[in-house]
Order: sequence, then C-alpha cells, then structure tokens
Amino acid sequence: MGNLKKSIEKALNNQINEEAYASHFYLAMAYWCDSQALNGCKRFFERQSEEERQHMLKFYEYVSESNGTPITPTLAKPPQDFKSINSLFEHVLKQEQKVTASINKIMALAYKESDFATVQFLHWFVEEQREEEALIQSILDRINIIGGGGQSLYYIDKEIDKINMAELAKDTAGEA
Ligand code: FEO
Repeated sequence: MGNLKKSIEKALNNQINEEAYASHFYLAMAYWCDSQALNGCKRFFERQSEEERQHMLKFYEYVSESNGTPITPTLAKPPQDFKSINSLFEHVLKQEQKVTASINKIMALAYKESDFATVQFLHWFVEEQREEEALIQSILDRINIIGGGGQSLYYIDKEIDKINMAELAKDTAGEA
C-alpha cells in the first residue's frame, strides 16, 4: 500500500481519537445505566463501547498498513451523569452525528487528494454511520411512544435489551 499524505494521516489519527472517545463515552453510559438498574441498557452500551473500540482499531490498522503512524490519543473525560434515559439517547444521537460529520470530512479530503484507497476504506464507515444514526433515532422514537415514568422505564429497558440482542446476532452473523 502507498504512503499516506500528511493531511490524510492527520485526519485519520483524529478519527482514532473520535472512535476512542465514543467507546469511552458509551462505557460511562453503560455504568450510568447500571446505577439506574437498567440492565438491558447497560448491556446495550457495553456492546456499543466495544463496537467503537473495533472501529478505532480499524483506523489503527489502516494507518499502519499505509506506512503511517497511528497515534494513541489522550482522551477527554466524558459526561457521566444524565437527566433521563431520553436525554441519554439524545446525547448518543449527537455523538453519532458528530462522528458522521467527521467521517464525511475525511472522505471529502480523500477525494480532494485523489486518495482513492482511503475513499474505499471509508465507505464501510459511511454505511455504518447511516445504520447507527437510524438505530438511535428508532430507539428515541420508541422511548417517546412508551413515555417517561418509573413503570415505562421497565419496558424501555426490556425493549433496548431486545434491540441489543438483535444487534449482537447481526454481529455474530457478520463474523461467520
Ligand atoms: Fe464508530 Fe459510532 O462511531
């Protein structure tokens, strides 16, 4: 594989930071859910956190294979306290939108630099981000339908547990 242009290497290293932060943030969310006895949600965020770590590793591998130097980032401390389950998922949607914007920026740069290997590499992430945003939006819609309140939380947790199981099954099928 060819050598990365410095601007592309820098953008990809920035993305390592973005994915690592997302992993970190979702871990904080998992343990907020744990503190609220929302065990389905906890499992959902543990899986999301691991998924983000895998995204981060894909960037490490790509930078390294392309004769660049992946940089292990220093991470900012994510928020650890949330007002409600609704507010939690609003944070997730914002976080994913931020990642999508960042992927799109690197894609635009890769086209500008005629770095078609990087364009090709990023395609997987474009689709992944579309799926992630759609998933989180569908969860927010369900939370809105079920409504707030103690008893609702019980059903929301069960719903998110089901979604988590479905995502796990998809991941396992993808690996096969
Ligand atoms: Fe890898 Fe959900 O951003």
